[in-house]
Amino acid sequence: MQNFCPGNAGVRMQKGRWRAGLVLMLACWLLLLRGDACGQIYLPPSPPADPADYGKVILDQYSLPTPGAVVFDHWLHRSKFTCRLCHVDIGFAMTARATGIRARTNRQGFHCGACHDGKRVIGGKTVFAACSDAPIGRECARCHSAGKKGAREYEYRKFTARFPKAIYGIDWEAAENSGAIKPIDSLEGVVPKGEPMQAREDFAVQPKYSWVHPIQFSHQKHLAWNGCEVCHPDIFPTTKKGAVRYSMFQNVEGRFCGACHGKVAFPLNNCQRCHPAGPAWAP
Ligand code: HEC
Ligand code: HEC
Ligand code: HEC
Ligand code: HEC
Ligand code: HEC
Ligand code: HEC
Repeated sequence: MQNFCPGNAGVRMQKGRWRAGLVLMLACWLLLLRGDACGQIYLPPSPPADPADYGKVILDQYSLPTPGAVVFDHWLHRSKFTCRLCHVDIGFAMTARATGIRARTNRQGFHCGACHDGKRVIGGKTVFAACSDAPIGRECARCHSAGKKGAREYEYRKFTARFPKAIYGIDWEAAENSGAIKPIDSLEGVVPKGEPMQAREDFAVQPKYSWVHPIQFSHQKHLAWNGCEVCHPDIFPTTKKGAVRYSMFQNVEGRFCGACHGKVAFPLNNCQRCHPAGPAWAP
């Protein structure tokens, strides 16, 4: 259990919180014991040992021997853009290798080519082009970089050195609050799809069991990062509060909160961040 429970995770807790932490550890065991018929253990899988690999997507569907598989990193791109811009306006799927990105679509200015067209200026810099007609060279290897040491300009540790850290990896919320990053939410020429949904009053998530405290979840904060359409209707099919019933098990399976937490947003192992008070019976 060492790595999974907040009581052990090196979180400095206030005195009164220890008991909550302990009870949460019990809940960990519950999760461990309540497997499905196949005896599968329902604990969130550990995130990759190196936070540099968290949110890394390898695109190797159409790899010919050259120029090789493409590595896409969330840590670099999410520091510059909101999730919404890429996953709603540009239209990348929320599942690895589901978008059908091709050299051709990039060249036509879709997908990676929406930014990587060799012309667009972002942060005072012209963004290098994707899949152009140029002969295979260094520029190609910046994306087609799998297994190529030194092909990339950006390096995780150097790039994130000044970002606030969390138990695991970067604390992205703090990074934004402190102004260390200022994600861009729109691009000239990339037209938002449809009418934007109207924002609602903020609320927390009410769990279905009385023994679980309200879940830490700011609707307001999430929509600033994600926009509405990333979550509604695909991840949370209804906009009526409490209408969808889901459990921690489904989160662990990568659905609902787990559609992002455990892949790109902070991992599910960080129980305390969503369950700050532990279950309701804890003092
Ligand atoms: C610059 C564009 C860009 C930004 C910004 C971005 N993403 Fe992505 N995301 C992608 C691409 C590209 C993929 C891979 C899609 C594919 O393979 O078809 C992806 C995949 C994903 C996946 C699936 C990963 C997997 O392993 O299955 C999740 C979840 C995700 N993004 C969440 C987010 C969240 C949350 C944010 C904001 C914090 C975000 N993304 C910001 C481009 C972006
Ligand atoms: C919303 C705009 C946007 C989209 C979409 C986008 N990128 Fe980027 N990407 C950037 C910017 C800006 C940089 C920084 C470029 C620089 O500083 O030279 C960057 C940098 C990179 C780098 C770092 C290169 C290096 O030398 O370290 C890689 C790799 C990369 N992008 C791959 C991709 C891939 C693959 C896709 C599509 C799946 C993609 N990007 C989609 C904006 C975008
Ligand atoms: C900004 C990132 C980026 C850069 C730079 C880039 N590519 Fe690509 N390229 C991709 C992505 C993403 C794919 C789709 C990979 C997949 O899913 O297999 C791809 C696929 C390809 C394919 C596979 C065939 C196909 O139809 O998809 C070829 C060939 C290709 N690129 C050539 C090049 C060449 C040549 C260069 C340099 C002149 C280059 N690419 C630079 C992102 C990039
Ligand atoms: C990203 C946020 C998030 C994280 C991280 C998280 N949970 Fe949950 N958890 C939830 C939500 C949301 C529910 C409520 C589902 C409902 O009842 O509607 C929940 C419910 C639960 C429940 C009640 C039983 C159930 O299935 O609904 C337990 C027990 C639980 N979580 C334990 C944990 C443990 C242990 C961890 C750490 C390994 C953890 N959670 C991490 C969001 C989270
Ligand atoms: C990170 C995902 C996420 C984003 C982004 C998001 N929502 Fe939600 N939304 C939720 C969740 C979770 C619920 C609660 C579902 C439940 O309890 O069954 C919810 C519930 C709602 C409800 C019902 C709440 C009520 O008061 O009855 C409305 C309306 C809603 N969302 C609208 C929006 C709009 C409009 C946006 C964008 C401005 C948005 N949502 C962005 C996750 C999200
Ligand atoms: C569409 C992707 C997405 C979904 C779905 C999602 N989150 Fe998040 N969440 C994020 C991102 C991005 C952040 C910013 C911090 C980070 O990336 O680590 C975040 C931050 C948070 C935070 C810290 C800020 C706050 O709201 O207080 C909490 C807690 C949280 N999420 C809980 C949840 C819970 C509970 C659910 C399910 C009901 C959920 N999230 C669903 C993307 C998502």
